[in-house]
Amino acid sequence: MVKLTTLLSLVIIGAVAAEMDAPKFVYHNHCQLTAFLKDVEQSYPNITHLYSIGKSIQDRDLWVMAIGESPREHIPLRPEVKYVGNMHGDETVGREILIHFIYHLVSGYGNNTEITSLLNSTRVHILVSMNPDGFENATRLKQEGQCNNDRGRYNAKGFDLNRNFPDYFEENDKEIQPETRAIMDWLQQHQFVLSANLHGGSIVANYPYDNYKNASKLNLHSKYSPSDENRVFRHLAMTYSLAHATMFQGYPCFRGKVHPHTHYFVGGTTNGAEWYPLKGGMQDYNYIYAGCMEITLEVSCCKYPLASTLEGHWNDNRKALLKFLQQVHIGFKGYILDANGKPIAGAKLFMGDRSVTSTALGEYWKLRVSTGYGFIDLIDASVSKFLSLDSGTYGH
Ligand SMILES: *[C@@H]1O[C@H](CO)[C@@H](O)[C@H](O)[C@H]1NC(C)=O
Ligand SMILES: *[C@@H]1O[C@H](CO)[C@@H](O)[C@H](O)[C@H]1NC(C)=O
Ligand SMILES: *[C@@H]1O[C@H](CO)[C@@H](O)[C@H](O)[C@H]1NC(C)=O
Ligand SMILES: *[C@@H]1O[C@H](CO)[C@@H](O)[C@H](O)[C@H]1NC(C)=O
Ligand SMILES: *[C@@H]1O[C@H](CO)[C@@H](O)[C@H](O)[C@H]1NC(C)=O
Ligand SMILES: [Zn+2]
Repeated sequence: MVKLTTLLSLVIIGAVAAEMDAPKFVYHNHCQLTAFLKDVEQSYPNITHLYSIGKSIQDRDLWVMAIGESPREHIPLRPEVKYVGNMHGDETVGREILIHFIYHLVSGYGNNTEITSLLNSTRVHILVSMNPDGFENATRLKQEGQCNNDRGRYNAKGFDLNRNFPDYFEENDKEIQPETRAIMDWLQQHQFVLSANLHGGSIVANYPYDNYKNASKLNLHSKYSPSDENRVFRHLAMTYSLAHATMFQGYPCFRGKVHPHTHYFVGGTTNGAEWYPLKGGMQDYNYIYAGCMEITLEVSCCKYPLASTLEGHWNDNRKALLKFLQQVHIGFKGYILDANGKPIAGAKLFMGDRSVTSTALGEYWKLRVSTGYGFIDLIDASVSKFLSLDSGTYGH
């Protein structure tokens, strides 16, 4: 009897105190990433749920860690948000800081009030690597500290995944890749409200649109291409930029390093097409076709910096990653009901160019700002931009 009690209490202590070590500041290959995610799920079973949204061409799982007070189930009116990293396999910093962000969230739950209230009111989904094949290729073909060649950018069939989505402005005839398809299906399964996609090669928060009508014909002619909810997008981009250690300065990158000669990106943000237009990008797709407000974050000048710099990159982004997700609560939300007060699924709410479809439960979310960072509008688009600064190596 005594023995049984002792055993039981051991088990209970084990369940409560199943703490894991913080991840190290090193690059995690696919096996190590998988092991880390499984470790998190095992150590924090009440607030995490690990699932795969599909496989890369070379059969690697596209793992998503869902984190929240209800990790397995959607709670009515509680918004779903996401981060996606490493879409370009050679842009490795986003991948590693998302690993640290996952640990930050799970280890802070119940101890840090900001984290606890976020996870009690929001479900966070994190796809650490959208292009695991590209990452393996990049880290095999390049050495740490090689900032700017494109090895590993593409998926295993040579497609640029941030040019691979159906495009709102122009026809995109690229064959849709399994990694892209997995995202498109994922967007059907959950109504994501807010999202960011982490890249490298610059330090800036880039907001829609990335393209405009006939941009390809005009051969990469930069042009400001705002959506009808531009004020909200600017607020989201500015929120990240201001909470980041240096992004707000807006300095450009040159040969993998910050080049502080001019405030190149005003406030550390840019409209996508004003920087340079691209066709088939993920952020425009999220917004137009999936009702999710997504921005693109460029989080490091060097795409594959020395692992010894990763802790610094994490510290630069830590606050911003949290502040950004909190913005999902700035608007309003509710149910669309019929005359008898019954929820209507699949109702279309028009918001300028895009329509938001109510969920199966009749829910909708709408982000809103009253004043936002309006002052930035005053000093905007007249600043000239020199696309050739980092010739041949694009960020987003
Ligand atoms: C998970 O939740 C259960 C039930 O609320 C609780 O008994 C258990 O201690 C929790 N486990 C951890 C690891 O927090
Ligand atoms: C809880 O938060 C405090 C203050 O931020 C920190 O010093 C402490 O290590 C945290 N405890 C755990 C178990 O994470
Ligand atoms: C978060 O939710 C948990 C579980 O429902 C609850 O015990 C805790 O008090 C909540 N904390 C906050 C800050 O809302
Ligand atoms: C690896 O990258 C090289 C250079 O970009 C490319 O030619 C090759 O097809 C890639 N291989 C795989 C398996 O991704
Ligand atoms: C785009 O190009 C087509 C065909 O050349 C033309 O008819 C159309 O007016 C253009 N649209 C815009 C907005 O430039
Ligand atoms: Zn990129």
